[in-house]
Amino acid sequence: GSKIFSKSIMDKFNIPTSEYIVFKKNYNTVCNYIENSHIDKYVIKLSGLASGKGVFLPNTNNEAIKIINDIYVNHSYGSNQDIIIEERLYGEEVSVMGFCNGNEIFLLPQSQDYKRLHDNNNGSNTGGMGSYAPAHILNTTELQELKHYMDLIVKDLNYVGILYAGVMRTNTSKNSQFKLLEFNCRFGDPETQVLMNLLESDLYEIINRCYYRLDIKNHDIIKWNKKYVSNVILSHIYYPARKLQNPIEIMGINKLDSSVKIYFANVIVDDRKYKTTGGRILSVVSISDNFFMSLNNIYNNINKLELEDNNRYYRMDIGYEYLLKENNCNKKIKIAILGSTNGTSTELLLESVKNEKIKNATIEIIISNNCNAGILDKAKKYNVNNMFISSHGLRKKE
Ligand code: AMP
Ligand code: GLY
Repeated sequence: GSKIFSKSIMDKFNIPTSEYIVFKKNYNTVCNYIENSHIDKYVIKLSGLASGKGVFLPNTNNEAIKIINDIYVNHSYGSNQDIIIEERLYGEEVSVMGFCNGNEIFLLPQSQDYKRLHDNNNGSNTGGMGSYAPAHILNTTELQELKHYMDLIVKDLNYVGILYAGVMRTNTSKNSQFKLLEFNCRFGDPETQVLMNLLESDLYEIINRCYYRLDIKNHDIIKWNKKYVSNVILSHIYYPARKLQNPIEIMGINKLDSSVKIYFANVIVDDRKYKTTGGRILSVVSISDNFFMSLNNIYNNINKLELEDNNRYYRMDIGYEYLLKENNCNKKIKIAILGSTNGTSTELLLESVKNEKIKNATIEIIISNNCNAGILDKAKKYNVNNMFISSHGLRKKE
């Protein structure tokens, strides 16, 4: 509930975190600080709860001043907000949660959440647009170190519940290191939606033992399966700016395959129809033996969902970079491309396969229904099989 409290406890135990300054409601001091700072060096945070919308990563000092005006002058986030301005970190993020019994923490597998609104981690911060687990970002030694810090907090607060650590693995020096972005006393959203699908044992039993401050380590109480789970959030295009006044219908839910399941968020059933007023509407989840397939199942299904006003939105790149990095897809990917114009985005794909940024993949053929299409020239340039097939007189289904 308080980022200031979170920081003070990190200081108390020398837990690595970014440098920070707390500003009580002194508008001029904050503006002064911003005007004299380098923009890529800081992050502005509301100390209190803000439904995942209280962290700002401005791109210009003017943008930063606008944010400060929204906080202090327009009171867009309530009238009583202290803020923190902290050092901006660059690196890879990971979420690490654990069950706490007042004495020790029992970690869940690592997971990764996509906080930014747009692909390639651009756009504003959100409550989370998708996630996957297990992630392998921290190694065993780093994880032990993190557990050590979390144990200190659990003991100090005699804390029973879920402790969530948002961690950034920074790559500034040769030795990579991690820093704590924050602690939350709750499950993470949307990571928990994937993590609970990895849990084989009974959640109630775990919570019960934590509640009664019993050990869970030696009782085989927590068991994880060896699968991969991911999820992608379907939101309204207005998210996170605003919601709709009147509910609109969500179509296509009955068309989904059994390889995916849905967790509803802002959804009601009215007159046997699924309806929403926007925001983050629902999450499409898939569990599989294979990371690639869990993503594939989602992306082959989420596009079947449509909103009455045609304004659905979801990120297209959840898990993508991790998939490439880990080469988690053990099957070779054979790609065929259909196109009728210039194939501008195909160029990136052709390049990435050629220079093995996408590993274990080949582009087998490019087919066009237009013999003059630029995409066929691109195929020739990259020595890829290509073919013109006329669609003249054919209907869409054929
Ligand atoms: P928080 O609510 O503090 O976890 O922040 C939400 C998100 O904002 C994080 O998951 C990061 O993506 C980003 N963020 C927070 N603090 C920093 C920081 N010091 N440097 C860079 N990004 C940050
Ligand atoms: N997934 C980020 C959070 O729950 O805070």
